[in-house]
Amino acid sequence: MAKILVTGGAGYIGSHVVKLLGEKGYDILTYDNLSTGHEWAVLYGKLIKADLADKETLRKVFKEFKPDAVMHFAASIVVPESVRDPLKYYRNNVVNTLNLLEVMEEVGVKNFIFSSSAAVYGVPEKIPIPETEPLNPINPYGETKATVERILRNLTNSGNGFKYVSLRYFNVAGADPEGKIGFAYPEPTHLIIRALKTAKGEFEKLEIYGTDYPTPDGTCVRDYIHVMDIAEAHLIALEYLLDGGESEVLNCGYGRGFSVREVIETVKKVTGINFKVVEAPRRPGDPAVLIADNSKIKKKFSWKPKYDNLEFIIKTAWNWECIKNRDNL
Ligand code: UFG
Repeated sequence: MAKILVTGGAGYIGSHVVKLLGEKGYDILTYDNLSTGHEWAVLYGKLIKADLADKETLRKVFKEFKPDAVMHFAASIVVPESVRDPLKYYRNNVVNTLNLLEVMEEVGVKNFIFSSSAAVYGVPEKIPIPETEPLNPINPYGETKATVERILRNLTNSGNGFKYVSLRYFNVAGADPEGKIGFAYPEPTHLIIRALKTAKGEFEKLEIYGTDYPTPDGTCVRDYIHVMDIAEAHLIALEYLLDGGESEVLNCGYGRGFSVREVIETVKKVTGINFKVVEAPRRPGDPAVLIADNSKIKKKFSWKPKYDNLEFIIKTAWNWECIKNRDNL
């Protein structure tokens, strides 16, 4: 079975992909500095606690493990933080990715799967958004993802045999339906997690950031996608590259959206808890609507999402919140 090096495999999305790869029998090595990830989240393979800034360790790990492909999840991901501290984002997301790509080139590893984001589109003109929309990010986080995508394209065009699949995630949510892993970030900013924590009483109230958007109920609309469907897309992308597929950039979303109010109503329904919700001003940098045109990934990869159901997504996230609490994770 192929050997896969997974950076950020102890984090939210990375750990779900490691679980899926492990179940399929892949030989996995997770490379993670555990700054936001957790040792308990790595259910398969070996974990090396190290930083991508440490090129010497990275080189040593590559030479010993000899991966057939790299999946790169390790990154800083909080949009408002990226506005306050852009240099941190350029260092972690761009410079560290360069380190990784340079070591891959040195040792001759050619296959790369990259965690990109719908944030590369900024405020798109077309909804649903096709991959052909221009890259026009409106925050440093999105800029770093777009920058790496450009580097990857240049590298493929250099003719050295390098190939990649860049997956542009929309709003990833939910948790492993078996309840073994899930989101465990110290200060969550994401809507579904904040709503669940408000239901649990960890926050006194949930704020709706903006009720005057040009959407049916005035709140922002997002394409929420279950983390295991995202994981499945990675598995298909991996098999595609290992079978000799060419470089690709693909949206990962369901192609439909829910408003902030709809999400809150569903969280109340799933938890059975009626928590306090208040209207607040818009959060800077939020586009009104982000919905994926997913026709390319469906056609090219025959990707068939299994969990396109907001209630199910929220149920798995709620189940995980309760387990995390119980087990003190
Ligand atoms: N929101 C609230 N209240 C909250 C939290 C969020 O009203 O307490 C709103 C936001 O303003 C936004 C929507 O809920 O309109 C979704 O917000 P999230 O923070 O959950 O997600 P984003 O759409 O802002 O961001 C996500 C990822 C980013 C990625 C982006 C690209 O977190 O990493 O999608 O689509 F860049």
